Amino acid sequence: MTETIDRHEYDVVVIGAGGAGIRAAIEASAQGARTALVCKSLFGKAHTVMAEGGIAAALRNVWKEDSWEVHFRDTMRGGKLLNNWRMAQLHAQEAPDRVLELEEWGALFDRTEDGLILQRDFGGHRYARLAHVGDRTGLEMIRTLQNHAVHKGIDVHMECTIRRLLTDGDAVTGCTGYWRGTGQLVAFGAKAIVLATGGFGKAWKITSNSWEYTGDGIAMALDAGADLIDMEMTQFHPTGMVWPPSVRGILVTEGVRGDGGTLVNSLGRRFMFDYIPDFFRKDTALTEDEADRWYTDKANNRRTPDLLPRDEVARAINAEVKAGRGSPHGGVFLDIASRRDADYIRRRLPSMYHQFKELADVDITASAMEVGPTLHYLMGGVRVEADTAATTVPGLFAAGEVAAGMHGANRLGGNSLSDLLVFGRRAGLGAAAHAASQRSWRRPDEAQVALSTREILAPFERPEVGEDPYQLHGLLQRTMQANAGIIRTEDELTRVLADIGKLRARALKVRVSGGRTYNPAWHLALDLLSMLTCAEATALAALRRTESRGGHTRSDFPATDLAWGSKNVVTRRRDGVLVLTDEPIPAPPDDLHRLLGDDAPEQARVEPELVIEAARS
Ligand code: FUM
Repeated sequence: MTETIDRHEYDVVVIGAGGAGIRAAIEASAQGARTALVCKSLFGKAHTVMAEGGIAAALRNVWKEDSWEVHFRDTMRGGKLLNNWRMAQLHAQEAPDRVLELEEWGALFDRTEDGLILQRDFGGHRYARLAHVGDRTGLEMIRTLQNHAVHKGIDVHMECTIRRLLTDGDAVTGCTGYWRGTGQLVAFGAKAIVLATGGFGKAWKITSNSWEYTGDGIAMALDAGADLIDMEMTQFHPTGMVWPPSVRGILVTEGVRGDGGTLVNSLGRRFMFDYIPDFFRKDTALTEDEADRWYTDKANNRRTPDLLPRDEVARAINAEVKAGRGSPHGGVFLDIASRRDADYIRRRLPSMYHQFKELADVDITASAMEVGPTLHYLMGGVRVEADTAATTVPGLFAAGEVAAGMHGANRLGGNSLSDLLVFGRRAGLGAAAHAASQRSWRRPDEAQVALSTREILAPFERPEVGEDPYQLHGLLQRTMQANAGIIRTEDELTRVLADIGKLRARALKVRVSGGRTYNPAWHLALDLLSMLTCAEATALAALRRTESRGGHTRSDFPATDLAWGSKNVVTRRRDGVLVLTDEPIPAPPDDLHRLLGDDAPEQARVEPELVIEAARS
């Protein structure tokens, strides 16, 4: 029987409807492009909502001393200088306008006493600069963007999984997929495509990501010929729930620490004082109370070590648990109850209050939370050009977590929501301009459409006895959690690769039963292939980078190696296999180089660790 395929044509198709995707679609549509927004889930359900604590932008409402230059420097330092400097510059310069625009579109931010947008502290940011809505900032951002987008004439296609990008020679011509509800196949012809599909956190067992985050965009881009960079750079957010097991990994916002919460081990010690980088350390021996007063002295703009960048805090928690000083369920304690009154906690952190009350029966205004690292974000991904968000494939653009470069080796909290807005807008502009430059449609190649159709339907057509996708997914999560976690070694990464090889062979034998209507086993059978591709790229890149930097720590190469500090690990697919190279990262121009101060690449040779200038005062 010939398969019927639902057909659509647009100037710009945006795949993924989190913050970056919606912002890109708004911009493309504003430029006059006929725009479609296609998402795997329900419109509005996106990992964006997991950025709870705020949007980083140098608005200067709380600290007049803040500026885009300081935000740029913090971002580069947090990223251990592996960032694409131009992206970090554009991001720091444009974030304030994007936040104000969001406010104009209806976002209801918390306020200072003067009625300005209130900003809170977050890790690695020199000044309190996170505009927020309690601890529901990502949710408010999605609500606002969604509301704005639906009035712009954008066609929204929900519950549609895209599986393949179509190309003509080297440029994109469209994409194919299926409607999750009916199983009907669909092909979109497009002059330009924006990928905004997020990361692949679901490849790990403990993650803040939900079921959608299976790396489809990264795998499709790779198959279409795009470059990936820095796939080894994975972020473990230091604080996810650890108990009960059914909710393990759910995010506990950094806003808890931003608002005064502290990390404590089973001995009752504020262990982050033991992990302070030398540069920040006050050399006189202090009692814990004195240290607390010194490090949190706002008048001198000092920062508590509980708010060191995420990679450093996650490693410290990991070390405490391994040393036997963890909490009963394998985490550490996060205490805000003894530092802030109940009204303040409920007002500032309403979601956390309800989350712990309802899911763990813990009242966070009275007791400490149990928390531990959870896979939250991928700094690596599709390589893009900073100004236009163009990938290395003509007509293909990428923004948000799927794109790489902006955050280097470690993302600062709050920089993702601003990234989504800044580069979502730029991707929309880039895609609309590309579409406008195409005089005629390049029709999708029917042979590619047919191939994609066969791939999508393959799990139904295999011999009667096949593999179970749920079991294979569980095995992938187990090996990634055990062997591609916070601390890695050559042996472990080699084991992951061997496991992935075996799992891929088995994934190609998955057999699903039943029909195409809402068949989750079928969906997972396909998503599994994307996760395996991304996991392989991560393990290969992690093996190649023989140093420790940011979100990538090798216990067999514990030092930060300057030679690696100016190189991206680049992954491409060639003749069906993943090929890796290292390529130099262009150095920032002199004026930006100066802003980096003591962290400028030359000085980094002497002191590659995070430098917090407050320690000099
Ligand atoms: O902790 C948080 O609220 C997460 C923020 C982020 O990932 O940017």
